[in-house]
Amino acid sequence: MKNIMVTGGAGFIGSAFVRYMVKQYPQYNVIVYDKLTYAGNLDNLLPVHDEPNYRFERGDIADRETVKRVFDSHQIDTVVNFAAESHVDRSILSPDAFIHTDVVGVYILLDESKQHGLERFLHVSTDEVYGDVDEGFSVEADPFAPNSPYAASKAGGELMVRAYHVTHGLNAVITRGSNTFGPYHYPEKLIPFFVTEALDNRPLPVYGDGMQVRDWLYVDDHARGVDVVLHKGVAGEAYNVAGENLRHNMDITKQILSLLGKGDSLIKYVPDRPGHDRRYAMNCDKLRALGWEREKPFEARLEETVKWYVDNEWWWRKIKTGEYLDYYKRQYAARLAAAE
Ligand code: NAD
Ligand code: DAU
Repeated sequence: MKNIMVTGGAGFIGSAFVRYMVKQYPQYNVIVYDKLTYAGNLDNLLPVHDEPNYRFERGDIADRETVKRVFDSHQIDTVVNFAAESHVDRSILSPDAFIHTDVVGVYILLDESKQHGLERFLHVSTDEVYGDVDEGFSVEADPFAPNSPYAASKAGGELMVRAYHVTHGLNAVITRGSNTFGPYHYPEKLIPFFVTEALDNRPLPVYGDGMQVRDWLYVDDHARGVDVVLHKGVAGEAYNVAGENLRHNMDITKQILSLLGKGDSLIKYVPDRPGHDRRYAMNCDKLRALGWEREKPFEARLEETVKWYVDNEWWWRKIKTGEYLDYYKRQYAARLAAAE
């Protein structure tokens, strides 16, 4: 491994991975390949901008010619694929981009990786491929049961990774992460959305009864999990990267309000997300066996995260304009009007 292409490296988790890898492995060249969609943001990469082993190339993973050019010009030997459309609510409103990137884009990357004889391919997937988990904890051998267009597109992309390993012998590994949180998280997702809305004393739209369960994982722990699988994972295998921190959405909401010194009156119960999975929960013994552990408890990380948004308005205020406001209106105007 010398020249690693990190696709989607200008997004939330991809940029955390890049910031970590550039410092941790000065002997590797880290080349970010990113389309810079609404969720891609070069501000996320400012901390590594001047590092000699970091480069940025703008491109779409579904654009074969540009992928080929970047593979050749940087002599890429390894791909870590974070690039995706990642927001469930947007996949319900407009699924096209999800098929383009999360299915077709993954196929193009795999096919070019095969043709270029790449040494290693890591694909970043999600616990949502397992679908709703009423009780217990998903293990890697469990069947897929995706329920949203986002989850179905991620499952499709992941199955193509498996096929390229089995059929063509591509040296590929997969990670399945749980709900991730931390700095530089696009403020459409629950935690950064609610923190930044609460700071402006705006309503927090809780879907349904707010008793859905998610498993929260700190972004730097997720990034290190991907690194461990990249270096130690067995080709053809998938690894769960879990927070092992199961929380109801309502508990998270109340914790955020309390950390900000705001009252519960900002909470608005709004009509539920269609097809909303009630609970995700994963077992991550397989990753732990490779030597991975989370660094700090959830409460400490949530506090640090809330403080980061308080201290970094420069980062999120400019995002919450333009296209963001159009999306906000499409997603929330009618829901908030119908709020209890
Ligand atoms: P994000 O939406 O913050 O970032 C996605 C990045 O991919 C952006 O920089 C965007 O510009 C880029 N991108 C999108 N389409 C592209 C294309 N066609 N070509 C090149 N670049 C493109 O996403 P995230 O939350 O950082 O998630 C990263 C990955 O981790 C995704 O694959 C997601 O499915 C997975 N994941 C996310 C979570 C989570 O909680 N956020 C949990 C588990 C797995
Ligand atoms: O589980 C991993 C997945 O986690 C990733 O694969 C996805 O990329 C990532 O977006 C995330 O998906 P979720 O749908 O779980 O995340 P989101 O932040 O959108 O929502 C978290 C929970 O909060 C979910 O139960 C829906 C609820 N919610 C969310 C929003 C944005 C609300 O109640 N109100 C809201 O306004």
